[in-house]
Amino acid sequence: MKFSDKAQPQISKLPVYQPGKPIHYVAREHALPIDAIFKLASNENPLGPSPRAVEAMQNALADSHYYPDGACTELRNALATKLGIPANHFIFGNGSNDLIELLAHVFIGKNTEAVMGLYSFPVYKIVTELMGGTAVITPMPDMKHDLNAMLSAITERTRIVFLPSTNNPTGTSNSVEEIEDFLKKLPDHVVVLFDEAYAEYTLGGIDMIPHIHKGKAIFCTRTFSKFYGLAGLRIGYGYASAELIDLLNRARQPFNVNSLAQIAALAALDDVKFLKQTREINTMGLTQLYSGFESLHLKFTPSDGNFVLVNVPRAQEAFEFLQKRGIIVRPVPSMGDYLRISVSIEVQNHALLKALEAWLDYLDKTNTKNTTSTAPITTP
Ligand SMILES: Cc1ncc(COP(=O)(O)O)c(C=O)c1O
Repeated sequence: MKFSDKAQPQISKLPVYQPGKPIHYVAREHALPIDAIFKLASNENPLGPSPRAVEAMQNALADSHYYPDGACTELRNALATKLGIPANHFIFGNGSNDLIELLAHVFIGKNTEAVMGLYSFPVYKIVTELMGGTAVITPMPDMKHDLNAMLSAITERTRIVFLPSTNNPTGTSNSVEEIEDFLKKLPDHVVVLFDEAYAEYTLGGIDMIPHIHKGKAIFCTRTFSKFYGLAGLRIGYGYASAELIDLLNRARQPFNVNSLAQIAALAALDDVKFLKQTREINTMGLTQLYSGFESLHLKFTPSDGNFVLVNVPRAQEAFEFLQKRGIIVRPVPSMGDYLRISVSIEVQNHALLKALEAWLDYLDKTNTKNTTSTAPITTP
């Protein structure tokens, strides 16, 4: 007997999500010392975790024998104050991925569909197909979600539209006007998952709270993995109408967020100095990378996040070339010759640009630059 014969039919067809390579793995593979490796692959905070979060966790370690607060009460109350919405409008997850899957659990099954952009976060397609639904993929001209195409793709079977702002891997977001127009035209039977994993970097983005108050079916998700520097702890949150949150809570595991993650997130929320520094480092890093890419004549997409998508000749080989030099980036083969690069501190950004320059020199010397394949493929 093969297990796959007994499993739900959609499972064997699912791709296994490929995360950015861990530092120790690359160190072993290329016989490099750990501290010579820069990981610019998963949009983590280059400053490390919030120092206040680390201190708070150290003080809480001895209580690890207790189950966590399943309702994340303290963090919930702090966020309710910060965002100005009642505490029963929040739900917490083991990373925001947990919440993306939870929404799919609640709304997706056989004979249902979810609409998503061609170049968006792969987890949307994975969770849709995991639940037995169909992923309906819409084009992304100019690397941006085409909201009219998404509206046109909605049918009676559609349950979710996945709309990230900022989008990963392109770094793009739709304008406030575009999103407001989209919300006006959205049929009532569809929930929008508005993924705000990079919201803290996206200044001037749309505020969904008034639209939630108006009764729009919107589930916003955010994370402590990026801006707050707590990716390893796995904690994210979602906010929506109390009714939608109630439904999601029925499908949630009772202790899906661990105690240390809750304590760290609460402390990080108020770590004003760290958060200010994070924003400044990101702004400076983006400027440094843009100017470096321009000097190297590499095309890039200006980003509303903490990463940049850049068009590099023979990107998969460039990824390996960089990795041998201790720089881990993220190739995006589904788009063609693209690398997604996390913004880092000056010295690491500089090392990355130097390594890219060395790659381009190598292509020039070997006269192999023009063998570039730029044709994007048709699935995300
Ligand atoms: C757009 C987007 N959404 C969600 C996530 C998931 O983040 P986490 O599960 O760490 O909260 C990521 C992580 O890279 C992302 O880029």
